[in-house]
Amino acid sequence: MIMRFTHKASALAVVLFAAILLSFWMSVDYRTVDLRSQPGSTLKKLFDQRVQLLQESYSEIPFRIKESVLGLLPHNRCVCQSEKTIDLPFSRMLFPRVSAKVFHTAFQASELEEVKRRRAEEYQSFKKRSQSAADFIIVAEANSPLQYPTQGVKVQPKKTILIPGLGLKEQPKKLHSVNLTSTLGIFDVAAEVEMVKVEGVGEKHITLSSNFLPHLNRQLQFVTYTNTHFHPNTADTVEFCTEGYTAVFTIKIRHSLIPKLYNPGSGRGYKISKLVTIATKTFLRYDKLQVLIDSIRQFYPTVTIVIADDSEHPKPVTGPYIEHYIMPFGKGWFAGRNLAVSQVTTKYVLWVDDDFIFTSDTKIEKFVDVLEKTTLDLVGGAVREVTGYTATFRHTISVEPGDEDGDCLHIRRGFHHGIQGFPNCVVSDAVINFFMARTDKIQQVGFDPQLVRIAHLEFFIDALGVLHVGSCNDVIVSHTSKIKLPWGQSETDKAYAKFREPSTTTQVAQDRLFYFKNRLQCLTYK
Ligand SMILES: *[C@@H]1O[C@H](CO)[C@@H](O)[C@H](O)[C@H]1NC(C)=O
Repeated sequence: MIMRFTHKASALAVVLFAAILLSFWMSVDYRTVDLRSQPGSTLKKLFDQRVQLLQESYSEIPFRIKESVLGLLPHNRCVCQSEKTIDLPFSRMLFPRVSAKVFHTAFQASELEEVKRRRAEEYQSFKKRSQSAADFIIVAEANSPLQYPTQGVKVQPKKTILIPGLGLKEQPKKLHSVNLTSTLGIFDVAAEVEMVKVEGVGEKHITLSSNFLPHLNRQLQFVTYTNTHFHPNTADTVEFCTEGYTAVFTIKIRHSLIPKLYNPGSGRGYKISKLVTIATKTFLRYDKLQVLIDSIRQFYPTVTIVIADDSEHPKPVTGPYIEHYIMPFGKGWFAGRNLAVSQVTTKYVLWVDDDFIFTSDTKIEKFVDVLEKTTLDLVGGAVREVTGYTATFRHTISVEPGDEDGDCLHIRRGFHHGIQGFPNCVVSDAVINFFMARTDKIQQVGFDPQLVRIAHLEFFIDALGVLHVGSCNDVIVSHTSKIKLPWGQSETDKAYAKFREPSTTTQVAQDRLFYFKNRLQCLTYK
């Protein structure tokens, strides 16, 4: 009896003790952090003031403005201007002019103010989310005795590092002293050096002082930083100061990036069927799709073909290495692209339209070679029309900063520059709808399913600054006739044309997206 009693008692004690411990840990470890506050927003003001001060000095010395250079600088007041066209037949084709378009007209005058206000609100919170202390301008002052790392210091969230490169270089004096202050972490020392006084260990503000400069410098080599406010990807600003001087540097706080690697298959050379999946979207045109599949199979019998289909009465599309995904009726162009691309498990995805035909000029190994050997994420090819004309649809896209009305988007035919080692390829921002891309990168950008009908450049606008885009004119796919005379059209062709035709309502919807989602006020095109 007694034995049992003590057993029970000790078990109870253990449970109680565990409970106490647990509650203690919980109370210690679950400190809350205000995620709303923008760490360093007061700091930003301070830095801006300093930069302002530096720029205002020497204001008495005269200068002469160079208009040609001044015009190149952003002035945050962009406009979209069209060039006047001469009204002659074919003048548009012979002398392409800049055309311009504004987007606010896509809204009723009565709703525009409200839309503007909502957009401004969303934009402010976007800016807050996408900026960190690493975006501040920090100027290193001249003749400062402080030595510190200007970039490249990294720490994982909630982890500790030694801060490299800290030092103080000054004339011997009675007491040498430095302070370090952070906002998202705490300081400590990994070792203690004799005759150095360290105050504020485990806090956001640490002071190190000594009568002997070499000792202080030795101690500075052991200063550690521990991140305490968790954020997967941000930056802390550290103020490092001594009497009369302040320096600031940033520590990047970031989880290590987990790679996403694709197994290319064993053996030498490119295993196209292991590396590439062909993706397409179809709507009604099963005859064209079958021609495409047959042409692919002539050259690539085992490459997987993913088909997204939003026809009203879907027909089965079968065969080896074919995945046919049926979607709700009329979900649209980008929704289909999105679905098809989301199902790809190979390193690369090749996008084709359902009315393309592979020929002996459709050497997709060349795409793989460019993507394997360069930093490009997406590379477009050329599409040959029935007339024999080939198109690459190369464009550059740039965003000119505007005021609260939004930014201006400028799209131009052309490219940025050639690529060494690939004489048939160039770097651009947008290409034709026949391209190969790194699957993970294209999934990252995604195709906005709000774009229902004709849309293509919109994807490249979303991809600006995310994808490195190229274009090669030596990988050519053929296009079945685009412009067919009405009496030669089959019933499906007619139904398809009716559905694809951009109506004014879809155009307005697209303009609204540009205005709100991309915060653009206007567009120029040439
Ligand atoms: C360093 O920090 C201490 C304690 O907070 C403060 O008294 C001292 O003035 C600071 N020194 C400098 C140079 O900012």
